[in-house]
Amino acid sequence: MNHEAKLIELPKIEDPRGNLTFVQQNDQIPFSIERVYWIYDVPGGQIRGGHAFKLQQEVIIALSGSFDVLINNGEEEELFTLNRSYFGLYIPKGIWRSMQNFSTNAVALVLSSTQFDEADYIRNYAEYIRYLNTN
Ligand code: TYD
Repeated sequence: MNHEAKLIELPKIEDPRGNLTFVQQNDQIPFSIERVYWIYDVPGGQIRGGHAFKLQQEVIIALSGSFDVLINNGEEEELFTLNRSYFGLYIPKGIWRSMQNFSTNAVALVLSSTQFDEADYIRNYAEYIRYLNTN
């Protein structure tokens, strides 16, 4: 699938006192981090996302629990299951995605390449397909 979304394995410092993982700007993360947000307390069966970004790139990490990220580039779909806090899913700009199948106590950490801008969202799938055909 030609969307360039990919899993990034993050450093894991194993320790009998508890494990530690980190990200450093422009090291594990292929962009400058402008914003961090997290999604939590997701009731069973709920779906988050369901949109694409024109410019925003992001890395999604399952800090706790598990959930699925469904990626769609207008032609093909791919499902990534995130259930380890030392893996991040890199999603380039211009990719439709949704997040579903959240476990109890799942926490999704999102590192974003942009500040929040509602104008960067494409929230309608038909509009997304039109956008792909004209950009
Ligand atoms: P949205 O990105 O649509 O959530 P998700 O993709 O997880 O389903 O954001 C939900 C609401 O929160 C929307 O009204 C915009 C607002 N929001 C902010 O104000 N700042 C942010 O950084 C984010 C991510 C969302």
